[in-house]
Amino acid sequence: MRFSILTLFPEMYGDFLSTSIIGRCISRGIASADLVQIRDFALDRYRHVDDTPFGGGAGMVMKCQPLLDALASVRQENSHVVLMSPSGTPYTQKKAHELAQKEHVILICGHYEGVDARILDHVDESISIGDYVLTGGELASMCIMDSVMRLLDGSIKGESTAEESYENDLLEYPQYTKPAEYNGVRVPDVLLSGHHENIRKWRLEQSLRLTRDIRPDLLEKHHFTEEEKRILRKIEEETNGLQ
Ligand code: ADE
Repeated sequence: MRFSILTLFPEMYGDFLSTSIIGRCISRGIASADLVQIRDFALDRYRHVDDTPFGGGAGMVMKCQPLLDALASVRQENSHVVLMSPSGTPYTQKKAHELAQKEHVILICGHYEGVDARILDHVDESISIGDYVLTGGELASMCIMDSVMRLLDGSIKGESTAEESYENDLLEYPQYTKPAEYNGVRVPDVLLSGHHENIRKWRLEQSLRLTRDIRPDLLEKHHFTEEEKRILRKIEEETNGLQ
């Protein structure tokens, strides 16, 4: 799949696009990313891309013309256009899977106080990566690219994404590696037992415990199996017993 990034700061992407799994994804041709400098589309001699907001207020607003011309230079029939914005729809693993199905995703990175609202008429959706404000959309676009590229076929082994946090609305169970004891702290015995069924049950219980403690909101939309319901009842009983 292909990403096109519309940005005023293409230099921010250098190491990101050439390092680790993302670098490998690109060098193997599984994904590609082209960086489009929005300023190259400014028409005045000072190459302005922003201006003061109508109605007054602090900061500058990104103008329609350079951004929409930059968009037109890469947009194709099959392009899915996303504006990175703190006012966008919250990003989720589900959305990462959706984007991984697209042939071409264009990510528009706003800067300053935001973009002229008329730009919204030209995008398919706006996405926020969390309830906080970044200085620009670049880091947010890297989060999107990272989370999508790792889902692409040939990027990383299928099993390593299937069980991780958010894939089934639960946080992932704790993981351990060698040595079995470090500074007096031992890995849970069950993980050393080689008993696959007990290990599966232990991991499921840990996932449920963690999700219940840290992200109870995720449990609200989770579809529980009978086994999960049983385990959760046990956890609740234990907790009530302790109170
Ligand atoms: N630009 C600034 N803050 C952002 C956020 N939280 N998500 C996406 N884009 C942004």
